[in-house]
Amino acid sequence: MANLSVEFVGMHFPNPFMLASAPPTRTAEMIKKAFAAGWGGAVTKSIALEPAQDLQPRLQPIVHRKRNIGMGNVELTTQMTVADWQRDIAEVKSDYPDRPLWASIMDAPVEKNWQRLAEAVQEAGIDALELNVSCPHGMPSKGMGAFIGQNAELTGQVVAWVKKVAKVPIVIKLTPNVSDIAFIAQAAMENGADALCTVNTVSGLMGVDLDTLTPLPAVGGVSTYGGYSGPGIKPIALRCVAQIAKATGLPVSGLGGLTTWQDSVEFMAVGATTVQVGTTVMWKGYDIIEEFLQGVNDYLEDKGIAEVNEIIGAALPKIVEFPEMPLDPRAKAVVDDSCNGCLLCVVACSDGGYQAISGVKGEVVTIDGEKCDGCSLCMMVCPLGSITMTPE
Ligand SMILES: Cc1cc2nc3c(=O)[nH]c(=O)nc-3n(C[C@H](O)[C@H](O)[C@H](O)COP(=O)(O)O)c2cc1C
Repeated sequence: MANLSVEFVGMHFPNPFMLASAPPTRTAEMIKKAFAAGWGGAVTKSIALEPAQDLQPRLQPIVHRKRNIGMGNVELTTQMTVADWQRDIAEVKSDYPDRPLWASIMDAPVEKNWQRLAEAVQEAGIDALELNVSCPHGMPSKGMGAFIGQNAELTGQVVAWVKKVAKVPIVIKLTPNVSDIAFIAQAAMENGADALCTVNTVSGLMGVDLDTLTPLPAVGGVSTYGGYSGPGIKPIALRCVAQIAKATGLPVSGLGGLTTWQDSVEFMAVGATTVQVGTTVMWKGYDIIEEFLQGVNDYLEDKGIAEVNEIIGAALPKIVEFPEMPLDPRAKAVVDDSCNGCLLCVVACSDGGYQAISGVKGEVVTIDGEKCDGCSLCMMVCPLGSITMTPE
């Protein structure tokens, strides 16, 4: 078996998989069930001084061709009190002392509020503080969440306040809804952040009901902007993880759209030491961890890699700024005999490319190498994998 354990600011994780701060970490009972299933760590649902009163409903499926490809939510923080959470944190730590449990805390930019929250969860035995300065909905109008995380100065200020009372590592959960996440990450680091986490949900408007022309999710005939999560946001999340890892060198906990073990390897390759999962657990349950652990283990064994640590950040040196991208090698599309002449590539190349492909239904298509500009659109639409990009 490959060694899947990782160290994160002095915390030992038996494996890098953590439950994100979300409904699957709503109570001690739920977190303990996840730990029993094999999760390496967890972040509590965000804890504020005032328990939340949530909208009903507050989740919206993002559907493409009858399949859920993402989820929108307008959920707020925990509905439990700080005292409830002190009891629940102690309960989890007593049953699973070896499994890192982080408390997600959030409040408006008021020094004593952040410090009260930090002290309360530390007393209960938490292993790290995850500062939620990134929730995009509901909270910003109260000066909370992304209201703080979209402002580098405020982010640094909150970190500095918490640092004064922190006895455990501080992890800042950053929002992708900014123009330069690296700039915000640096402000957090300069003020004492021990580690970073990203992404929280991507701000979005989830859809419109065609019968009533009401935006979704509709509550009492109206809706609002919410947080978009799940598979569709993975490229945004990978970009954010890579940017903050490169800009700061701090340990990063990466998340956003992780649905498979392959996704977890990608997150680690671009700099995540631990990975977190929210939406996929809501859709598939805690037992998905078995697939994740088996998949990563088999991958490492196949590659002859003894420790998962070896892949952390391995792709980072290969991410360059656009001007550093090479114009060589040049590549052209080449089709093989498996082509069944469906002509999807002909249409795509005709109307979205360079008019380089021709053919008749049911026969192998012809690609004109002179006209082909190597964009790879044909390869993307080919349902059989018959087209490859071949270096000239
Ligand atoms: C219903 C729901 C509730 C969430 N609540 C919180 C929260 O309380 N605190 C927080 O930091 N993030 C919260 N998140 C964001 C997730 O932790 C995570 O950052 C985001 O969903 C992206 O990961 P995913 O695609 O794996 O879900 C919530 C997400 C969802 C879907």
